Amino acid sequence: MNQSNHYPADFTWGVATSAFQIEGGANADGKGPSIWDTFCLNPNNIKDQSDGTVACDHYNRYREDVGLISSLGVDAYRFSMAWARVQPSGKGAWNEAGFGFYDRLLDELAAKDVKAHLTLYHWDLPQGLQDDGGWLNRDTAHRFADYAHEVARRFGNRIDAIATHNEPWCSANLGYGNAQFAPGVADARQAIQVSHHLLLSHGLAMTSMRAAAASAQLGIVLNQWTADPATDSELDRTMAELEYARSVQWFMDPIFKGRYPELALRAHGANAPVVHDGDMAAIAQPIDFLGVNYYFRSFCSAETPPRTPPGKLGFTDMGWEIYPQGLTELLVKLNAEYMLPPIYITENGMANPDAVTDGKVSDPARIAYVRMHLDALKAAMEQGVDVRGYFLWSLLDNFEWNSGYAKRFGIVHVDYATQERTLKDSAIWYRDFLSAQRQR
Ligand code: NOJ
Repeated sequence: MNQSNHYPADFTWGVATSAFQIEGGANADGKGPSIWDTFCLNPNNIKDQSDGTVACDHYNRYREDVGLISSLGVDAYRFSMAWARVQPSGKGAWNEAGFGFYDRLLDELAAKDVKAHLTLYHWDLPQGLQDDGGWLNRDTAHRFADYAHEVARRFGNRIDAIATHNEPWCSANLGYGNAQFAPGVADARQAIQVSHHLLLSHGLAMTSMRAAAASAQLGIVLNQWTADPATDSELDRTMAELEYARSVQWFMDPIFKGRYPELALRAHGANAPVVHDGDMAAIAQPIDFLGVNYYFRSFCSAETPPRTPPGKLGFTDMGWEIYPQGLTELLVKLNAEYMLPPIYITENGMANPDAVTDGKVSDPARIAYVRMHLDALKAAMEQGVDVRGYFLWSLLDNFEWNSGYAKRFGIVHVDYATQERTLKDSAIWYRDFLSAQRQR
């Protein structure tokens, strides 16, 4: 292993999942339905007409899965809590049986010496709150702050890091902008208002969790990308600038600068969000860490049809361009634009059409993908970006939202007919890589 493969000794290495994608147990022990349970009822919404009723059956197999996590030698496990499991309708009574599941999971992780990185909201809003207007209703932000406080109060000293949201850009733009995700609305104005309420809920939750005075680091996870113009034309350059303002800066500026980016506000025009007095201050709370999920860059072309990205390193099974240098560029750019707290790469990985042959899964493309992104990460750290950890998405093959089970992101293969788990070559590579890190 060459010198550049060495990371700081206290660097956190992990794997990530989310509740709806792996747990199953959709109606177990008093859990209420979430907007994703509802969204899956319409077979047109999910490519393979599947749903999250069983998923990886992690709800019943969490012990075995924590055993797998521990066998990889990672430091930490990033997972999310299903809000509707612990508060079935999103307001009112808590469900002790639901909390019991996370209590057992945390015990199991602690017993194996694996740190817990929890996400409070990975897209599965309790349907009860959706019935009251969901994220378009400002009150949902207050309900979220109550939920966050309760989780921090109960578990905040047993968890290393709590993120409020995972990829609020997706909740707003795919959930409300183009109907790809639950709740399946396509309305630009609503999407922008929802993004404001998500940010507000983040700020209110930061405050309510601070009041619980737990030891966990508190922050948020954003999906981010650089936006590159397809050509040098002025149109493409303007498009790229606007894209960056409407995606990355739209979430970063309120949190770190207490305002929305001017360029994006102007572009939104009459669709700009209704912002109450005090909202921006409520959002701009200091955070202890920033989670960055990185998969690809945005390639901006004003031509019709638009130019497609060159994909010199190929494309993943999602059709996403493999572009590791974008990770370096993104982190260096963020570091220049904002006063950043420590960063965790909370997701990075690839979908691959993996299959088990003779008990093995050969996925050299994934190993190459992760190696290239780790090199890109190292390059950013060498340019002064304070990155404290890396979480590979994902531990298990799982429910890839509107793609159903057809896209496999796991380093562990799941046979959905038998629930058998098989380590892919990438899992074995990751385990060996981590063990080499520790032996130096
Ligand atoms: C980001 C999301 O957080 C996660 O749920 C999803 O599975 C991965 N990207 C891959 O698309």
